[in-house]
Amino acid sequence: MTTDAPAGRRSGGAGRALAVGTVLALPFLLQGPARATPPAAPAPYRDAALSPQVRAADLLARMTLAEKVGQMTQAERGVLPDPQDVTRAMLGSVLSGGGSAPTPNTPAGWADMVDAYQRAALATRLGIPVLYGTDAVHGHGNLKGAVLYPHNIGLGATRDPALVQAVARATAEEVAATGANWTFSPCLCVARDVRWGRTYESFGERPELVSDMAVAVTGYQGAPGDRARVLATAKHFLGDGGTTYGSSTTGDYLLDQGDTRLSEAQLGALHLPPYRAAVRAGVGSVMASFSSWNGTRMHAQRHLLTDVLKGQLGFQGFVVSDWAGIDQIAPDYPLAVRTAVNAGIDMVMVPNDYRRFMTTLTAEVEAGRVPTSRIDDAVTRILVQKFRLGLFEHPFTDRSLAAGVGSSAHRALARRAVQESQVLLKNDGVLPIRANVKRLLVTGSSADDLGRQMGGWSVTWQGASGPTRSGTTILAGLRAGAPAGTKVEYRAAVDAATARRYDLAVVVVGEAPYAEGKGDTDDLSLNAADHDLARTVCAATRCVLVVVSGRPLLVTDLLPRVHALVAAWLPGTEGGGVADTLYGRAGFTGRLPVTWPDTNAQVPVGRPRDAGRTMFPYGAGPTR
Ligand code: GLC
Repeated sequence: MTTDAPAGRRSGGAGRALAVGTVLALPFLLQGPARATPPAAPAPYRDAALSPQVRAADLLARMTLAEKVGQMTQAERGVLPDPQDVTRAMLGSVLSGGGSAPTPNTPAGWADMVDAYQRAALATRLGIPVLYGTDAVHGHGNLKGAVLYPHNIGLGATRDPALVQAVARATAEEVAATGANWTFSPCLCVARDVRWGRTYESFGERPELVSDMAVAVTGYQGAPGDRARVLATAKHFLGDGGTTYGSSTTGDYLLDQGDTRLSEAQLGALHLPPYRAAVRAGVGSVMASFSSWNGTRMHAQRHLLTDVLKGQLGFQGFVVSDWAGIDQIAPDYPLAVRTAVNAGIDMVMVPNDYRRFMTTLTAEVEAGRVPTSRIDDAVTRILVQKFRLGLFEHPFTDRSLAAGVGSSAHRALARRAVQESQVLLKNDGVLPIRANVKRLLVTGSSADDLGRQMGGWSVTWQGASGPTRSGTTILAGLRAGAPAGTKVEYRAAVDAATARRYDLAVVVVGEAPYAEGKGDTDDLSLNAADHDLARTVCAATRCVLVVVSGRPLLVTDLLPRVHALVAAWLPGTEGGGVADTLYGRAGFTGRLPVTWPDTNAQVPVGRPRDAGRTMFPYGAGPTR
């Protein structure tokens, strides 16, 4: 600051002016050169140099109850047509349910959608970014151009945790390319009854195998500084794969969302180890199971959610409910809300009437029926994950990642995963298919059907048979990889006389796609068309039976008639990997992740109603 003597008073009054100026300038002279007012220091929660915990504590202290309840609320994109709804409700998270995608269903279409929600979130008073979740359970299934990998049951057959981690990493890259920053995977269910419609979401029937594959968590979540990091979800806690047949009260489900009737010791031995591994791997979220334990809904299980998961296992992330899962606790909605939150649910996948949830929870807190300490714990857990992911520093989509969607590198990885997941259960010398096979017949319901080889959680929630999107069918793989001189012919229907004209037949049978309880069944038999086709063809010529399914199917009476049997599981978009093993370009190294029963009575594993010899035991397959 400088002071000038007033003009016109320079001559006679110069001495006075100088004196006045000196007095006025004294502070300046004492304190050195003048400085602009320093900018206010950023609030600690905006300081990336501070720990997520310190940042969360600072932010929490600034939040109103409405803002806290908002963070605990997740809504489906379908009820948020205007992104400003995120601002108005101060929502903590948005999700895409199975099959819920923007138009255009492209990486850019997704990124534009998610970034619009993100801008709306940053427009709130405290500017807390949203978590955007989707079920990338075998690749980014909701995204039409994504590479889809074998479902978990096939990955379990590989016995290759490093491969599973790589698949999760590649999946994270395609999810992040669309702006989503949270996947509801890996499912760490231990499938004990293959009649369950979610068997294929399990890595297998043994806790040790599933625990080994929990490494997927580090694939999804990456490391600080990675460009493509997404929050992982260990699900569904606890015992979803151990329910008792016929115990489900959901629709016409038989097992899914049923009751797991085990002692705590049995539950802990069979179903808890994968969560211990996931917590050790740093998983940021756990999804509660729709199922019950000894009659109490898991969404209301305070002992397991809080004492065991957060206490004994030391889980520091947050627990998210499953889709409207808290509604199943009680018809009295306020009771359901307070029971779930007090039990340890931190974020509620409402997913539709989010305003009702927020109003109800707020009222329960204000009435003292949900302690503020519980709310603060839940919000802290959520905020810590948002800080860990770097969302405050990088809230928007890294558009450069779009180049990785459907990339040849990801397809090659998926093809390797398909190869390693194939389990050879019988071979009378017809495999590998060699050049001496001049006329190769390919037939069966799942030979040329991308929808069937992808299974559920593919384009739509339930999946669907047919060419639902681009990819390589098993037939296309057999055609592309045929030895020189081998003519590959596809026939949807074949009689014995026709079959006899071929040197070898590959009969690809399987299931129509399904997801969750809609896949529950009381009969594991092959469908009649596939069964009769296989009987006819394999009686007329040498044949390889390939089973494309989410679980073992009964092929007991066909086994003596086929010359080779391969379990292909649900290979995803890269059916060429199946052809690679049939032609011997990749060895058969897969081993059964689940017991393959002889009859419908040989399930559930561990407590079969028919304790006879099963067709193939857990672990069956060529030794490496
Ligand atoms: C479903 C499933 C769960 C999935 C969620 C969101 O009902 O149980 O696995 O993550 O809803 O799609």
